[in-house]
This record gives sequence, C-alpha cells and structure tokens, in this order.
Amino acid sequence: MSEYVKIFDTTLRDGEQSPGASMNREEKLRLAHKLAQLGVDIMEVGFPAASPGDFEAVKLIAQQVQGPVICGLARTRSADIHRAWEAVQYAQNPRIHVFVASSDIHLQYKLRISREQMLEQVKSGVSLARSLCADVQFSAEDASRTDPDFLCQVVELALKHGATTINIPDTVGYAMPQEFYKLIKYIRQQVPQVAQATISVHCHDDLGLAVANSLAGVQAGARQAEVCMNGIGERAGNASLEEIVMAIATRGKELGLVTGINRAEIVPTSRLVTMITGLPVQPNKAIVGANAFAHESGIHVDGVLKQPLTYEIMTPAEVGLTTNWLVLGKHSGRAGLKSRLMEMGYEFGEEDFERLFTAFKVLADKKKEVFNEDLEALIADEILRIPSRWRLEYLNIVSGTVTVPTATVKISDNGQVMQDFGSGVGPVDAVYNTIVKITGSQARLLRFGIASVTGGLDAQGEVTVRLGQDELEVLGKGSDPDILVAAAKAYLNGLNRLEYLKANPRPVPNGD
Ligand code: KIV
Ligand code: ZN
Repeated sequence: MSEYVKIFDTTLRDGEQSPGASMNREEKLRLAHKLAQLGVDIMEVGFPAASPGDFEAVKLIAQQVQGPVICGLARTRSADIHRAWEAVQYAQNPRIHVFVASSDIHLQYKLRISREQMLEQVKSGVSLARSLCADVQFSAEDASRTDPDFLCQVVELALKHGATTINIPDTVGYAMPQEFYKLIKYIRQQVPQVAQATISVHCHDDLGLAVANSLAGVQAGARQAEVCMNGIGERAGNASLEEIVMAIATRGKELGLVTGINRAEIVPTSRLVTMITGLPVQPNKAIVGANAFAHESGIHVDGVLKQPLTYEIMTPAEVGLTTNWLVLGKHSGRAGLKSRLMEMGYEFGEEDFERLFTAFKVLADKKKEVFNEDLEALIADEILRIPSRWRLEYLNIVSGTVTVPTATVKISDNGQVMQDFGSGVGPVDAVYNTIVKITGSQARLLRFGIASVTGGLDAQGEVTVRLGQDELEVLGKGSDPDILVAAAKAYLNGLNRLEYLKANPRPVPNGD
C-alpha cells in the first residue's frame, strides 16, 4: 500500500520571489484557482505582513478558492502571526506557517540572537499561531546547515507548542541527497513524537539538487514536499512540482509513494505560470519544456513509432500535453474557440471569453492560421496580464532607411487617454521614448528580447523586457503579429508591474 505525500505548492509565495516574477492580486487569484484544479494539497499564497497587497491577495484567495489548505507565511513576531491569521481565517482549511532561522550562521549574523533567544521565539510564535489556528506549520530556516542536535531541540519545542507540520528547509540549496536523507532520519529517530506531525521538506536548487534532495527527504519519511511550478523561486528556484510529482508517479511502486495531483493539469498549469509571471521555461526542462517529449534522432523516432515505451517513460497525454494541434481560422466561431480552449485546459467566464473572441477574430484576420500557441499568447495579453494602470490604445510608427524613426502613441492611464509622439535611433527606441514621455516613467530598460510564438512568416512576435527602477526589477511581456506593437505592450506590462510593486513591495521573508 503506497503512502500519500502531500504537495505543498509555494509558487505564489516563494515562486513569486523569483527576480521579476511579482504578480498582482488578480493574477494570483487566477493561478490559485488553477492550482486547486491541479489538486495541490496545500498552497502557500503569500506573506500577509509583507505588504497590504500581499495581505489582500491572501485574503481574497482564502475567501474564494475551495479545496486545498490555504497557507500564509509569518515570522515569529506576534504582529506577523495575527496578520497571517486575519488573511487566511476565511479559508475552508486555513494554515499559518511560522518560520525562524535556526543555523548559527543565521542566528549570529542575520538575526543577531542566541540559540536560547531563538528557542524563545519558537515557543511564543508557535503557541500564538496555534491559539488562532488548528493547522500550524513551523519551519527552521536554514535547517540543513543547523547543528542537527540543536535542530532536534527546535523541532521538539515546536511540536510541544502545537506545530502540526514540521518543515526542514534546505534554504540555500547546500545539502546533498544522502546527507539530507540522513538528517530526516535522524530527526525521526531523536524526536519520536514527530510521528504525530507531518514532516515536510523544502529544498532550493542552488546546486541543481532540489528535486533529488526532496525525493531523498520523502524516502526518509517526510510526507509533505514543498514545490513550485516550473521550479521557479528565490535565486535558482525551488524543487519543481512537476518533476517531483512525475518521479513519484513513474517510480511510485519502487518508492511506495503516491500524490493526489491531477497530472493532466500539469502542462496547462505550467503554461499559466509562464504566461502570468513572464518567466520562460527552458526548452530542455523536464516534463514541461518544449522538447521534453520531442524526439529528434532518427533512431529514437523509429523506436517510439514501433513502441512508445522504447524511449518514453511517461506519455505526453499523462501530463496534459495536447496533441491536437489543428488550427483555427477566421471562419471559426465561438463554439470552435470555446471547445479548443477547453481542450487546452482553459475555461473563462462570459466577459473574458467575449474579449478573447474579439481579439481572436482580429488576429485571425491578420493571420491565416491560429495555433494553440497563438491562443495562449492572446489569453496572456487579453486576460491574464491584468494592467493595473496603463493600457496601449493606439500606435503608429514611421521608420525606414532615410527617415528618423518616429512614433505616435496613445495610452489609457486608468481610463484617461493620453497621446504624444517622439523619435529615436530606431523604431523601438522611438516607441519607448514616447511611452516614457507620456507616463513619466523613470524605469531603465535592462533587457529586450524577441521570439516568435509559432513558425511562419506571419507568426506573432513575443517581446520580453526586463525593467529596473531603484532596487526593483520586473519582467514585461507582450505579443502581436506586429513586433513593434508587441514591444509597446511588453514595456507597458513591465511598467504596470513596477507600479504594482512600488505600491506593494516584494516580500522578503528571509530578512529579520
Ligand atoms: O527557503 C526557506 O527556508 C523558506 C522558508 C520561509 C520556509 O522559504
Ligand atoms: Zn524557500
């Protein structure tokens, strides 16, 4: 009989700590609904004390998303814990996640407190959280670099004061699988009462070992794995949800483990994360990369055609990769679009669907064949990347070998339309100079990239920009068959994200 491993998704908290990946409240809510469809057991959706925006997002998700446990992060401070409870209390199943660092390095240099003071914080933080909420998770930050005997003392104390889940993070991605396995075993041996709680593992990918360490942790008896979709997260990221889930699904018999994830939702959820955050997935990424199921070599193709098991250890359909790439055209109607979207795993309300249908018709007029990737680019532009302030209304560019490139741009600023024109060394420069003139933005363009959404000369261009202002950095994305329009959309998407981030500073939970 296989044992159940709970999947604790932290895409909306640790994942959001990926540079540039900040999400606004509505974007987080949309993703939270998708994570519920995916079947995660717990979702950590923010750090309510970090900013009013984070608080509101956690509260909204707690009020609206049914099914999984909804978790909010807090330091051991009383104000943090009350704020977390204020936000998660509306959930069907709320959880407060309290954390404090336990390694000497963190205690000495970051928190500047003694081990005794740290233990005091564990006691007060966990008991306060438990007095508010029946489900309390405690994390010993930097556990993998903590003196194991002190860590056991910390775990024992957290359990005594009411923690129901004990999380052992490899915060800086330093552990090795064998070592991490032994650490979990050691805790189970030294603190037998940990059996009353769930042991959790939370591994970062600085050495590319996050998934291996998490699997070692569950083999040693942890029954919760903390993960992010596409492996996004602070620095090199967190353990990837899809890799852990598929490792358990594919090698479950040997591991004696099972998860409750609805695997056919993996690829649609991965795409949604990419579309909302703007963080691309590398083509060779396991499970969700564009090449994950693409066989190039003749020998492999031959083998797969004769018997898929020769080179495929799992099927694309199992993870929700649709093989139906039939195109839509300008004669396709609402029903055709709706059923294609359903096949791709998207369902929208009437208002969103109508907006999408209008945009689809405009695109289909310009482009003979509309592919699934085109639809995803439209969904991202029209529905998912919700502008908090500026929206492109109109763009006209004059450029060529003998003219100074000039742009006329109309932008709506919270509904009020403003227009101006400007020039530049090239058309993109002209567009961006004009946008800066209209918006008064102080942002610096750090990076500009363009890719085509599909093949073909009439393909849509997808522009990604990285913008920076002071210490803030964001990614902006936009797509359109006209690459200059895509460039303008991407820049405005970046400015909207910066605007949101200025009002809601990105939570940095690892600070003291
Ligand atoms: O990496 C880490 O230690 C964390 C904690 C807040 C659990 O993200
Ligand atoms: Zn983390």
